[in-house]
Amino acid sequence: MDSQLIERLTRELALRKRLQQALLLFSRGVSANLGFAPALESLTIDLTTAFGVRRTSIWMHDRRVRILTLAASSDPRESATKPSIASNEDSMIARGLRLDAPELFSVAEAQCLVVPLRGWRRALGTLVIEGEPRDVDSPLFIETGADLGRQLSIAIERVLVLSEVLGDISEQNQLRSRLVQAAKLAALGQFIAGIAHEINNPLQGVLGYAELMLETIDPDSPHRSDLRRIYLEADRAAEIVRNLLVFTGSQRSPRRPIDIPALIGETIAIRQAAADTARIHIAQLGDTVLPLVLGDALRLQQAFLNILINAEQAIASASVPGRITITLAAATPGLVIHVDDSGPGIPDDVMPRIFDPFFTTKDVGQGTGLGLAIAYGIIQDHSGVLTAESSALGGARFSIQLPAEW
Ligand SMILES: Nc1ncnc2c1ncn2[C@@H]1O[C@H](COP(=O)(O)OP(=O)(O)OP(=O)(O)O)[C@@H](O)[C@H]1O
Ligand SMILES: [Mg+2]
Repeated sequence: MDSQLIERLTRELALRKRLQQALLLFSRGVSANLGFAPALESLTIDLTTAFGVRRTSIWMHDRRVRILTLAASSDPRESATKPSIASNEDSMIARGLRLDAPELFSVAEAQCLVVPLRGWRRALGTLVIEGEPRDVDSPLFIETGADLGRQLSIAIERVLVLSEVLGDISEQNQLRSRLVQAAKLAALGQFIAGIAHEINNPLQGVLGYAELMLETIDPDSPHRSDLRRIYLEADRAAEIVRNLLVFTGSQRSPRRPIDIPALIGETIAIRQAAADTARIHIAQLGDTVLPLVLGDALRLQQAFLNILINAEQAIASASVPGRITITLAAATPGLVIHVDDSGPGIPDDVMPRIFDPFFTTKDVGQGTGLGLAIAYGIIQDHSGVLTAESSALGGARFSIQLPAEW
């Protein structure tokens, strides 16, 4: 064998080894929880060094919105801008998506290898290697680029498939926990409805007699204030019983088409004075015209009020001025309402229990723990979904999805 060939083969072997090493580090980086984006970033740097080129970048394709976004670049200035282009554009990068094999392009006197990244029946993106590689001729550059593209596509697709599967699992878990919550509420609902009715009758008797006695008792009697106390406490118990009846859904009115943005506006108006006093700014954002929802306006307003009052109480607990934003938007199959607050948020250990009836973190007499259970029941009764998470405002975010009138 002539010495030139041996030298060429040695260089090729060394290059292939470095590329393998870079891919291995990429796969390890993803598994070691470094995350997809940082692992891609280090890969572009390793590839730039291995080929001895100016820069390397990886563009990922979003099939849904048909755009290519720069996912990683060895050049920090380029990666900081995160540009994106339409996948049907006639640029070199977008064309790369439709290539079968890598192709060398000339851009402003500099050469550029564009490598398509292809998964199982889907275009994943493009790998772009810019500059003249050191000690590598064009045929070898294209050949190693093709091998690299194939292996990188497999590695990237594995990550994507895994994250899709994990996404499905968490969706299934959410569905399951919603079903468990629904079953829990239904069973508890029947039980509570029975008790609430039984308590309501004697309670109305106590209230009625206390009221009668208050009207007839001598205004100077020393028992007057005790009697008033009995009346107020009985009234508080009656309020709890009323709430229980709302929770069990035993008080329903006929369903009508409801203009949700208007209903939210009315609900905010009810709380405006209290919010002003507590230095809380409430804003209603988003769409003002949305599909009508078929439902019980009073009960839906009760659900919004319970969520809004919780947000106010959460902010007030920190004794600083705060913000609540209610954002409305159309969504399939109807609309979504987000209620964000700037309060302290919901701790992780509290979150799984907030929709349970009688769960409260508030002091005795401050909360019965029924507000969210009632809201959950009402939204569910309207074939909607109520969820809670952390808000970008720093506190909690409650989201209500409601289907539109059908
Ligand atoms: N916006 C919020 N920020 C922080 N924590 C919240 C928020 N909303 C609800 N929570 C938590 O969820 C718990 C349950 O709320 P829920 O409305 O069901 O009951 P409550 O407010 O304690 O009592 P009630 O509504 O019966 O007066 C609260 O005690 C609180 O810990
Ligand atoms: Mg509450």
